[in-house]
Amino acid sequence: MTQALYELDRVSKRYGRENPVLQEVSLSVSEGGTVAIVGPSGSGKSTLLNLMGGLDVPTGGTLSFAGLDVSSMDDRARAGFRRDKVGFVFQRHHLLPQLTALENVLMPALARRAGRDAAALDRGLQLLERAGLGPRAGAMPGELSGGERQRVAVVRALINNPRLLLADEPTGSLDATTAAGIVDLLLELNRRDGVAIVVVTHANELARRMNRVLELRNGRLSPVA
Ligand SMILES: Nc1ncnc2c1ncn2[C@@H]1O[C@H](COP(=O)(O)OP(=O)(O)OP(=O)(O)O)[C@@H](O)[C@H]1O
Ligand SMILES: [Mg+2]
Repeated sequence: MTQALYELDRVSKRYGRENPVLQEVSLSVSEGGTVAIVGPSGSGKSTLLNLMGGLDVPTGGTLSFAGLDVSSMDDRARAGFRRDKVGFVFQRHHLLPQLTALENVLMPALARRAGRDAAALDRGLQLLERAGLGPRAGAMPGELSGGERQRVAVVRALINNPRLLLADEPTGSLDATTAAGIVDLLLELNRRDGVAIVVVTHANELARRMNRVLELRNGRLSPVA
């Protein structure tokens, strides 16, 4: 049995006076594990991912990442957690249009002020290379295809070497072939670097490529047979 990287214990989330979106959701993500989360629109998939990434706080339950109690962190600690421990990829790439692919990739490393620019630059170039984008490192986002931009976004999410990558419909705006290429990249990074992946997707064929597929429905999470 692999060690748990992330443990969610009866996590609930309610926005204002609405019915709770998440009702006592428990989930264990193992070190280097891959999990797909599926479910109808509005079922709370993004809400769950945002809680896991420290973008929002639960109204009940605990989230514990490698022994760190994320649910009890103050804003400042949560910002640090977000920056150093997890990588995010969204449906839209959110690249800054006035920076090159490589500069976009290096942004989270700058935010960290690690003071090791050379190491970050090295890693950025290496990751771009592995994503098949070596020759495009100096291109502006506007000069890249949708799939290339999304690959840059994946690389950017990994620049600080997080142990967990959270991806919210990362292939939602891509055609099937390009989408499969993004999933190939995610799984290659998982295998080679051991980064755990939690991906939200509407595409069943992509979900099935992860070790586990869970469905969120009526506030609850259950395995898909
Ligand atoms: N910040 C917020 N304030 C209030 N309600 C919210 C907020 N964010 C999400 N919700 C509500 O919570 C519910 C779940 O939203 P969420 O975005 O998590 O769903 P989802 O499963 O990601 O849907 P989709 O597949 O369409 O992206 C929805 O009813 C939504 O309106
Ligand atoms: Mg969503």
